[in-house]
Amino acid sequence: MDLNKVYLGDCIEVMKSFPDQTVDLVFADPPFNIGIRYDLHNDKMPYYEYYNWSEKWIKEAYRLLKTNGSIYVAIGDEFAAEINIILKKTGFYYRNWIIWYYTFGQNQRKKFSRAHTHILFFTKSNSNYIFNDKLIRIPSARQLKYNDKRAHPMGKVPDDVWFFPRVCGTFKERIAGHPCQMPEELLELIIKTSSNEGDLVLDPFGGTGTTAYVAKKLNRNFVTIEISKKYYQIILDRLQEKYAEKTTKRRIVSPNQNTLFG
Ligand SMILES: C[S@@+](CC[C@H](N)C(=O)[O-])C[C@H]1O[C@@H](n2cnc3c(N)ncnc32)[C@H](O)[C@@H]1O
Repeated sequence: MDLNKVYLGDCIEVMKSFPDQTVDLVFADPPFNIGIRYDLHNDKMPYYEYYNWSEKWIKEAYRLLKTNGSIYVAIGDEFAAEINIILKKTGFYYRNWIIWYYTFGQNQRKKFSRAHTHILFFTKSNSNYIFNDKLIRIPSARQLKYNDKRAHPMGKVPDDVWFFPRVCGTFKERIAGHPCQMPEELLELIIKTSSNEGDLVLDPFGGTGTTAYVAKKLNRNFVTIEISKKYYQIILDRLQEKYAEKTTKRRIVSPNQNTLFG
């Protein structure tokens, strides 16, 4: 496995070529199987095809993670329950079912507009895993509002409902040519929490390369995989700072308070 490399190919096949227990953190934002128009991937597989495919890439992620490694999987309502079960069946230990609440969900006429994505956080060990709480603490209400002597002086660990605006198609930070893009702030929180400098972060579904880009900024090594040549090129361009003007100007905010973070 080459560090700090973008691999072009199918993530299951590419992951199979990597050695056991070499990765510290996996972040995966797979296609949600809801009919998004990707360049190559069919995002409307029959139910069991998607289920079995998910099982395969999650098993590979398990094999690659070190014994103290963590995995975060972003997933929509439609398959959140199934992915949760697959993660458990694979051998991972459940830590959090995080709700990423965002603004600018797609407006609806006949139902409420969706404004959340699930982020399932699991670890390979039930007790020995990286969780850098000191790096992610935020001011607590006990400190700010109640002047409570019991308040932890460094603030509190964020709750499991995170607020980050979605990167909409019309926003200046949006990279053209790909249907979805995660906010950098969300990846910053995950990478800071569950890895240390010099560690290896793997993202099997590269997309626009948000994970690789943020991992690099935070002095982590990265490996990312993307099946589409078009998106692969977007990732290479992003890592060469071709979109830097667009992607680095946003303020970093805490996950559940609009205060400065990190
Ligand atoms: C939801 S997007 C990821 C977006 C990414 N998190 C970002 O912030 O840009 C999913 C990506 O997975 C890619 N993909 C789908 N099937 C794949 C496979 N078998 N191997 C590698 N990549 C795949 C799609 O082409 C798409 O770019």
